Amino acid sequence: MGGGGREHCIVEALRRSGADIYAVAANRNPGISRAAKEFLLHDVMDVEKITTWAKARSIDLAVIGPEAPLGAGIVDKLAEVGTPAFGPDKAASQIELSKEFARDLMRDYRVPGLIDYWAFNNAKDFEDWVKSCDFEFVIKPIGLTGGKGVRVWGDHFNSKGEASAYVNEILKDRIGGAARFLIEEKAVGEEFSLQAFSDGKNVIPMPLAQDHKRAYEGDKGPNTGGMGSYSDSDHMLPFLTRSDYEKALDIMKKTVKAMKANGTPFRGCLYGGFIGTKSGPKVLEFNARFADPECMNVLPILESDFAKLCEGAATGSLPKSARFAKKATVCKYVVPEGYGTKSLSGMPVEVDEKAIARDGAELFWAAVDERDGKTYTMSSRSLAVVGIEDTLEKAEQVAEAALRHVRGRVYVRHDIGKKDVLARKVRRMGEIRQGKVH
Ligand code: GLY
Repeated sequence: MGGGGREHCIVEALRRSGADIYAVAANRNPGISRAAKEFLLHDVMDVEKITTWAKARSIDLAVIGPEAPLGAGIVDKLAEVGTPAFGPDKAASQIELSKEFARDLMRDYRVPGLIDYWAFNNAKDFEDWVKSCDFEFVIKPIGLTGGKGVRVWGDHFNSKGEASAYVNEILKDRIGGAARFLIEEKAVGEEFSLQAFSDGKNVIPMPLAQDHKRAYEGDKGPNTGGMGSYSDSDHMLPFLTRSDYEKALDIMKKTVKAMKANGTPFRGCLYGGFIGTKSGPKVLEFNARFADPECMNVLPILESDFAKLCEGAATGSLPKSARFAKKATVCKYVVPEGYGTKSLSGMPVEVDEKAIARDGAELFWAAVDERDGKTYTMSSRSLAVVGIEDTLEKAEQVAEAALRHVRGRVYVRHDIGKKDVLARKVRRMGEIRQGKVH
């Protein structure tokens, strides 16, 4: 289910396992459409219709890409008709759908890596609290905002007055679906992503990756769903230590344990959005699905049988481990001009797929619509190219070479995965560890 770059990548991984694909998406993603035996072009939130459609086709396993249908209970509905699904049920999806649920879970079960937080549902309580606040903070609507609702002091606002204005906006417009928000102490560090398969008890980690959420080069501009990401051939990240990784993995394992103890066992892909700080990794958020774009860093190098892993996660019988190739990956999203503020949608985008393959890159189609043999931009990310090589430097070059074969009113962050940018991150993390950056 789902029509983005992440889902096209999932489809390709399932095909490598020999699966027949029956796809459901709200847009005709050309990559998924070509791969599918049948394609239901339909709203992924219509869980009744999708369940009936799946049952009529005796689907063996549903793999759910996006978070919103998880929250709408697609996995519970499919279970009613006997279709196992890779993805958490409605109760367990709360780990992503409610930031307060995730924070309370960490607090109640003493999961390490928790950042101090406060929840509010009215402006008066916030004003009383903020009067005596003497540190920088982050404002997060409780519910889903497509990665675009979080505002960070120093990045998106610079005063208590601006914070109050945004808080009032959340309350008035119910941003994220509720008149309620979290305030969290701002953590200083480098962000990273750890994705893991889970069957409710066991955890199999995937290689680490780093996303780039800001729209423009140099990490400037509005937040987006993610402009691109990279992973290294040793499955670590250049700015992290082995100890950072071990701590992050321990947090993931303790979270899965907490979910089970809470009566909401987590089955599917658990995504930990971390920030490496002076005092070790802290959790920024959990997601209940593969990350987009980081899915495209890990699944193309998965050597184990993906369908078996998904089936094992869905049925509580995850294999002991998964093998990933020792390759570096660089993923760059091509987005419509204006993406992040006002996307230029409905514009043609021309892609020479054969030339991209000749240059050795992978292509994953995302939010484009195919009409009369042509592809057109929509409001979200259009397609991604991924370089997969022995080193990050080479992977980045392959991704860049592939981008020459894409034409249209589109935009790319060319800085992702570049050598000097990575060196800057390593330097900055070193300074953070020494307490030189606040
Ligand atoms: N890249 C982070 C996310 O998918 O939410």
